[in-house]
Amino acid sequence: MPPSPAVRILANAAAAVPVLLDEVRTLLATTARPLLGFATGGTFTTFLQALQQELAHGRLANAGNLLATHLDEYLGFPPGRAGGMVHELGTACPQLLAMLPKGMFFPVPHDDAPASLRAHEQRLQRAGGVGLQFLGIGRNSHLAFNEPGTAFDTGFHVTTLAETTRDDARARFAPNEPPTRAVTSGLATILLAKRLVLCAFGKAKAAAVAAMLQGTVAPACPASIVRTHSNVLVLLDRDAASLLHAGQSGA
Ligand code: GLP
Repeated sequence: MPPSPAVRILANAAAAVPVLLDEVRTLLATTARPLLGFATGGTFTTFLQALQQELAHGRLANAGNLLATHLDEYLGFPPGRAGGMVHELGTACPQLLAMLPKGMFFPVPHDDAPASLRAHEQRLQRAGGVGLQFLGIGRNSHLAFNEPGTAFDTGFHVTTLAETTRDDARARFAPNEPPTRAVTSGLATILLAKRLVLCAFGKAKAAAVAAMLQGTVAPACPASIVRTHSNVLVLLDRDAASLLHAGQSGA
């Protein structure tokens, strides 16, 4: 019987911010040199802005020891290029960007050379692995850019984005077309993190959340893999939880 994630249903998305900041505080308090894996996407913007305030005002003990990374990057999007994931993280939380030249932020490669992907994965391992990984979920139930059908045993790899994923990214790249390919952390890589905290807010995520928590654990629903990890917290608002049937822990 796979372990069941802890699920908390919050009054609204804003209520996740203090919970996520507490997760960061706990990580910093319990690990000498913690590696925190950020997720991109609108789900995390408010939290990242709040984190910026905490870091800028020195309100996080041991923050100087923090190492950071993230889940995925569009091919051909180096850190300074608008639309890219590092650019997005740095816009919401400039303190993260300041860690880049100090070698304390490990950006996901933006090229498809197998050696770059291997080197990135090894860098994460040398740093002791990801202690806390934040995750969003696509409305097609993707995790990072692991689209439906991706095998569960993948490491960092280059992937072709699903049409729903590109549709969701369209506004971000307008008037240009969204990219078609990205480098993504694999599902096996994500599972290596010691703790996973997944957030989903809004009606558009409700079906993906129900499939993740109550459907079959299988590559057709990449996010369902979180049910095989033993240390997972899922934070939902009421809309995202609206298709869960009774009995889901915390529901
Ligand atoms: C993006 C990212 C994911 C993210 C998801 C949801 O494409 N690759 O890591 O969790 O889609 O994004 P949003 O939070 O904007 O809904």
